[in-house]
Amino acid sequence: HYMLKEIHEQPETITATLRGRITPTGVRLGGLEQIADELDGVRRVIFTACGTSWHAGQIGAYLVEELARIPASVEYASEWRYRDPVLPGGTLVVAISQSGETADTLAAIELARTRNCPTLGIVNTVGSSIARGTDAGIYLHAGPEIGVASTKAFTSQVVALTLFALWMGGRRGLDADETRRYTAALKALPAQVAEVLERDGEIEALARRLLDHDNFLYLGRGYSFPVALEGALKLKEISYVHAEGFSAAEMKHGPIALIDENMPV
Ligand code: F6R
Repeated sequence: HYMLKEIHEQPETITATLRGRITPTGVRLGGLEQIADELDGVRRVIFTACGTSWHAGQIGAYLVEELARIPASVEYASEWRYRDPVLPGGTLVVAISQSGETADTLAAIELARTRNCPTLGIVNTVGSSIARGTDAGIYLHAGPEIGVASTKAFTSQVVALTLFALWMGGRRGLDADETRRYTAALKALPAQVAEVLERDGEIEALARRLLDHDNFLYLGRGYSFPVALEGALKLKEISYVHAEGFSAAEMKHGPIALIDENMPV
């Protein structure tokens, strides 16, 4: 029940993440202003997170590469913290966390700090450990997540990461028309999400039709690839049904063996 409520809250939670952050010429992120000079020197961005937040981080890496033209990647905090990563000067480490308390993500931020990397937090919970442990950041303002699974936090993370990439890009010569195209699309998003949610009857009918299947594949390319991974995670976590997400083209390099007329894709 909580989760349904949170799913249906998304037009409002996305609006809250955007509030006051879009200007006629670009994006304003108050939290980043204090370290803007340092961020201008960034030559590489590493996102670090777990689970759903990692999926958002993959989208963030694509966005930063596309809009700010900075090399960017995402790391599982639980792996990265136990490695001895090479972190040249100009490496920015960005932690993404709904709760702001995930131990691995917190440890990743501590690792970044011991290596003198600037750190940012993209966090939902105000005053949480990750929010306090980073140099600066962007709050989601999505409201508390009550269910086990991250729902509205994911879409707000993607929105905040888009704002971040536009902000970084804006300081690196991103075309003004391109910026406006993105900010206009962001402003249109809550109404579009509401439109999809109004079709919940159709979605329920589809769910009933697929009820008897034990395995599902989610496929996507580009920005839809991490969304496919997230869809599969959500189905596993909520329905206890086996599901896997793949990059659409990579699927033909092996997983295609699983596909027959009984496999929903
Ligand atoms: C999945 C889910 C988890 C979290 C992960 C990180 O629905 O909720 O995968 O995304 O445990 O949590 P946060 O974002 O709080 O650091």
